[in-house]
Amino acid sequence: MEGVVSKRLDAVLYSKETQEHIARVSACSAEIAGAMGLTDGEVQLIKKAAVYHDVGKHEVPDALLNKPGPLTPDERKIMETHAARGWSYLMVSISPIYLAGAEIAKQHHERWNGSGYPEGLKGPQIHLYGRIVAVADVYDALISDRVYKKPWPLDQVLHHFAEMSGILYDPEVIQAFLRLHGRV
Ligand SMILES: [Fe+2]
Ligand SMILES: [Fe+2]
Repeated sequence: MEGVVSKRLDAVLYSKETQEHIARVSACSAEIAGAMGLTDGEVQLIKKAAVYHDVGKHEVPDALLNKPGPLTPDERKIMETHAARGWSYLMVSISPIYLAGAEIAKQHHERWNGSGYPEGLKGPQIHLYGRIVAVADVYDALISDRVYKKPWPLDQVLHHFAEMSGILYDPEVIQAFLRLHGRV
């Protein structure tokens, strides 16, 4: 079973998101986990599992992924399927990395106040790894040049996270993240 899972993942992993994005989200997630005092084992697990956070985008059409400008409500619905799809790719595995990846894939768009997707989970209902990767993923999206947006200046990005701590993001994750940036 593991061979089938890993072959499938190899095929899809780098097809839709840039390798740079995947590597930065993975590294940033591990840094936050370390700053939160998680064990080395968990830090390494998050680092490896976060690589799979967007693997479900494999089945989202390129036209949507690369659309310059806001998505229509119907398009957003299709885009949002990537979370549960990624989970379904990974959850058939027995490997701890893929299983952690499954939680991360499913929950990295959940938000602390319940406004996220796919399930609208709130606060600690969201797996800690999902809460950490959420911050790393948004951070990388904000500082990067995307077809639909210009990069934000770092100050503005850090301000966003400080302002949305306890609203969109787990306050403990944000505290660790801001500490890494010398802001706490
Ligand atoms: Fe995503
Ligand atoms: Fe991502």
